Amino acid sequence: MAKILVTGAAGFIGSHTTDYLLGEGHKVVGVDNFRTGRKENLATALRSPAFALQVKDVAAPGVLADLVAAERPDAIIHLAALVSVQESIANPELNFSLNVLASQLVAEAARLHGVGRVVFASSAAIYGDAAERPIRESAEKRPVSPYGAAKLASEDLLLGHGACYGFTVRCQRYFNVFGARQDPASPYSGVISIFARNYREGKSVTLYGDGRQTRDFIAVGDVARANALAATRPGLTSGAANICTGRATSLLDLAGIFAAAHPGVGAPVHRAARAGDILHSLGDPAAAAVALGFTARTGVAAGLAELISGQPVPVLP
Ligand code: UD1
Repeated sequence: MAKILVTGAAGFIGSHTTDYLLGEGHKVVGVDNFRTGRKENLATALRSPAFALQVKDVAAPGVLADLVAAERPDAIIHLAALVSVQESIANPELNFSLNVLASQLVAEAARLHGVGRVVFASSAAIYGDAAERPIRESAEKRPVSPYGAAKLASEDLLLGHGACYGFTVRCQRYFNVFGARQDPASPYSGVISIFARNYREGKSVTLYGDGRQTRDFIAVGDVARANALAATRPGLTSGAANICTGRATSLLDLAGIFAAAHPGVGAPVHRAARAGDILHSLGDPAAAAVALGFTARTGVAAGLAELISGQPVPVLP
């Protein structure tokens, strides 16, 4: 069993990753400053004797290195970030600090204290408006936001440090992640979190454009398992992989699933397509299967059933 330090542990992906690691019998040191993370997300973890919470800002110099020196984790899963693309556009300096400088501090902590492995929360946003579909890892990187640029810069920083100082780095390029605990607060929050809230409250949803745009939606439980594999699977080498399903779901299909589960809620309202919205985003999951032994197990329908009912839906082993 391993000891894993998870930054951003109180966030959406961080809390699910923490729960999954604890369920597998690992020890977890969770770090969060509650800027966007929430303590409620850690309700289950906080009941475990194998979990310790450190309320700290990993973007502040020295904080992470001191923590790593004291805790001596086998791996760091670095999920703390400025998570909103829109916020990165409004505040690019803060994006640089939280999404680039913090990654350098992770690399430095790993170097100074001999951490064997670093797992990094990258994003499909590094590809920007990539021409190919499905997108493979080799696709040209053309980020179109400070957020995407920072994720790409962080991948390079971590991979370069890992190659030079001898630790393994796994960059996880998440596609559209969905599931419980995702915050629907902003109009730019993940579409599934917004749809789930609206249907639950009996309010109709907005479809931007004709609704035929598609995304590669991946359940957060699968993402948590992919993170655990990247942190703990023996013998991994450094690299980057898409964390996706390889399956496309349209917004119309999504609204249809919600509508079927919520009879009586009004039909979706169509509005003009969002400026800059891309039509299709689909990842190629092959590299993650080879590098991590990871294949997504929860389809969109099962993941939505779980989200809507609040009950776990069994998945194939
Ligand atoms: C994601 C990012 C976004 C970023 C983009 C490019 C998230 C939550 N968003 O956007 O900030 O700019 O990648 O890297 O990760 N939609 C509706 N109705 C709604 C909300 C959304 O129809 O109420 C549509 C959107 O127009 C879009 C699709 O749903 O076509 C998905 O939207 P969203 O969940 O925001 O994800 P991305 O567009 O992939």
